[in-house]
Amino acid sequence: MISCCFKAKARFPIFSVHDLDIMRAGIRNYQRNNVTGFLLREDNSYLGVVEGSDQAIDRLISHISLDDRVFGIHVLSRDDTASRDYPSWSMGYIDAQNLCRSSKAIREFLRRETSSLQHDQLPAILKHMCYLRQRQDLKDQRLRESPPPAQMDAMAVG
Ligand SMILES: Cc1cc2nc3c(=O)[nH]c(=O)nc-3n(C[C@H](O)[C@H](O)[C@H](O)COP(=O)(O)O)c2cc1C
Repeated sequence: MISCCFKAKARFPIFSVHDLDIMRAGIRNYQRNNVTGFLLREDNSYLGVVEGSDQAIDRLISHISLDDRVFGIHVLSRDDTASRDYPSWSMGYIDAQNLCRSSKAIREFLRRETSSLQHDQLPAILKHMCYLRQRQDLKDQRLRESPPPAQMDAMAVG
């Protein structure tokens, strides 16, 4: 199995419908090909980790490289791995208002020019990604357990 980390620049503003479409594709590919991972959006950049079979990951990375919604995709690592760090596929946003230490580290990393990236920082960045994913899971779980009032109304109607 392969774990691959990449970064790319977004052509569309944060929180646009395009992110929703990417999210849907990620969930489809998880169900179809068992590609797991986490995609983080920060201002005009993405940082992603995808895990799966060699074939599925190579196909996905070539799709993303040709995807009009991004440019300047750069594969930061592609490693064999025996186990997955991400149990499913999901997407998160770096909260610009409320930056935790790991968000700050990732933000600084993403803001560097690719040519000046220090690849020895990558293991720490990947660790931060796992932490942010766990935080995201907790937030999603809390939302499922006690949805905000507007969402509860929608659930009652549905
Ligand atoms: C930054 C970025 C990350 C993406 N990550 C994934 C991903 O992890 N999984 C996925 O299936 N598609 C991802 N996509 C979308 C793919 O480029 C492509 O549109 C999609 O895989 C096609 O899926 P489909 O054949 O089910 O329509 C990403 C796109 C972008 C721009």
